Amino acid sequence: MLNLGVLASGRGSNFQSIIDEIEAGRLNASIKLLMVDNPNAYAIERAKKHSIEHLYLNPNDFKSKDDFFKKIADELKARGIELVILAGFMRIVRKPLIDAFPNKIMNIHPALLPSFPGLHGQKQAADYSVRISGCTVHFVDEGMDTGPIIIQAAVPVSPDDTEETLSDRILKLEHMIFPEAIRLYADGRLSVEGRVVRIKGYELKDEYIVNPILR
Ligand code: GRF
Repeated sequence: MLNLGVLASGRGSNFQSIIDEIEAGRLNASIKLLMVDNPNAYAIERAKKHSIEHLYLNPNDFKSKDDFFKKIADELKARGIELVILAGFMRIVRKPLIDAFPNKIMNIHPALLPSFPGLHGQKQAADYSVRISGCTVHFVDEGMDTGPIIIQAAVPVSPDDTEETLSDRILKLEHMIFPEAIRLYADGRLSVEGRVVRIKGYELKDEYIVNPILR
């Protein structure tokens, strides 16, 4: 069984989707710790409800960002965490945590990277009026949303979409592909070579995706 540590800052709906997959017996993993950088994060309520240990760390209590991330790494290591999940964790991860968990930290981003990195990926996509957007699960490196891509999923975008309507459409897919990426990892099917992630047993079919708006 894979030991997970989850880092979150807010609502925690992605955290919930992982809890649900584990409880349904579809993901062979156990969440050993939820760490939050925000004492009001709703994710804490979810942890309590499912008897998952939670820990609030205030970044302002640390001399530097590196010290804050070193503390997170120490807390995760102390609990035997094997994979770290960033589920709406609103900070750029620093070296002490990345070095402690090389290619063992996953993040979900609400856009098709490398388009629209950073904050408000859905708003950026709606404002740009792209035809397709989506979400990306990737391993985390020191950049902002730049690490090796594991899974992406796409949704159509309408010119009438707002940040809210597009976010809702993308979120449904987030809740599918994040647990799926963790499952692939838990099953030992992922390997990383530079920025290429290979998925064992995953065959590219001779298919293409047509944006429904164009049909
Ligand atoms: C999601 O849109 C995720 O892609 C982004 O932050 C949001 C977190 O939502 N990284 P939630 O807290 O999981 O509900």
